[in-house]
Amino acid sequence: MPLVPLRSVLDHAAENNYGVAAFNVNNMEQIQAIMEAAKETDSPVIVQASRGARSYSQDNYLRHLMLAAAELYPEIPVVMHQDHGNSPETCFSAIKYGFTSVMMDGSLMEDAKTPASFDYNVKVTADVVKAAHAKGVSVEGEIGCLGSIDHAPAKDHGPVDAELAGEPGERHSHDADLEQEPEPEGAMSHLTDPDEAERFVAATGVDALAVAIGTSHGAYKFKKKPTGEVLKMSLIEEIHRRLPNTHLVMHGSSSVPEELQDIIRKFGGKMGETYGVPVEEIQRGIKHGVRKINVDTDCRMAMTGAIRKVFAETPDKFDPREYLKPAREAMKKICLARMISFGQAGNASKLMASGRLK
Ligand code: G3H
Ligand code: 13P
Ligand code: ZN
Repeated sequence: MPLVPLRSVLDHAAENNYGVAAFNVNNMEQIQAIMEAAKETDSPVIVQASRGARSYSQDNYLRHLMLAAAELYPEIPVVMHQDHGNSPETCFSAIKYGFTSVMMDGSLMEDAKTPASFDYNVKVTADVVKAAHAKGVSVEGEIGCLGSIDHAPAKDHGPVDAELAGEPGERHSHDADLEQEPEPEGAMSHLTDPDEAERFVAATGVDALAVAIGTSHGAYKFKKKPTGEVLKMSLIEEIHRRLPNTHLVMHGSSSVPEELQDIIRKFGGKMGETYGVPVEEIQRGIKHGVRKINVDTDCRMAMTGAIRKVFAETPDKFDPREYLKPAREAMKKICLARMISFGQAGNASKLMASGRLK
């Protein structure tokens, strides 16, 4: 079946009270891992590519990989989503390349760093909604800013955080500012304001709304298992009360499992002590309108741990398939687990039968 819009999948998820993981991809093995997990669990799929992923893989490769996935798994509805579009132009070029859903992240300016005004956010998002809807493409907007772009004064987190929270690939190096001992005012002022959320949805007509509730991108989210003080699930409940018909999106939702941290450390990787978003908290969100859950870091960790293991245990190997196969298998395990926990498992066939997908 051709790639499908996000809206159809999330409408079905809302009607049937489940959430759908949105996994980030940059290459073929990651797409294969997701598709195999989806086949095994009968899950609808959201595959997303960041701007970085698009430039790493190039749009033509990505598009054809996604078309191959749709062709090889006709029984699985697949959404191809632009993650964190930084401008209308980025969203329009994604649409040109066949993405069926785009995120216009107007919570930040085009530099993807500077917090934007409410009016700017409404303007760019409404422009994208107008153009995207005319082509049957769905739009996710964001109100409030994730921890990673929190501009609270930088804190000295000591040698471990300073060294590890800024590892290459962890572009969100000051995520740590949102942890258990933050400057509460600075760190929390960027969270979604429910009043603004209501006005934003009314003014833009977005299909899905990303909200900031204290999560951040990357592996370094929390220093202890998060409490309601730093992971504001209560805010999700409030926003859902006010916007019961809006599909909510949780970014920065990797759980950063201890087992994966241990594997990475055991085979020579460096990771400071860290905690992610517990799966039970996401399940609580799903009961209150969360329909799309963004997961990238857990998949990265799973693949990296598996590759490190092969390198450490069999240093004589040099055929990329020898380490990419276990990496793909490890990512598949994470995808399977999330698809089951979020409740999307068992819903691909139901969605196909629902008549929602033309
Ligand atoms: O936005 C967060 C995702 O983890 C994508 O990360 O920009 O490094 O591809 P990236
Ligand atoms: P994680 O870094 O927690 O996996 O979040 C990914 C994300 O939000 C992509 O938009
Ligand atoms: Zn994100």
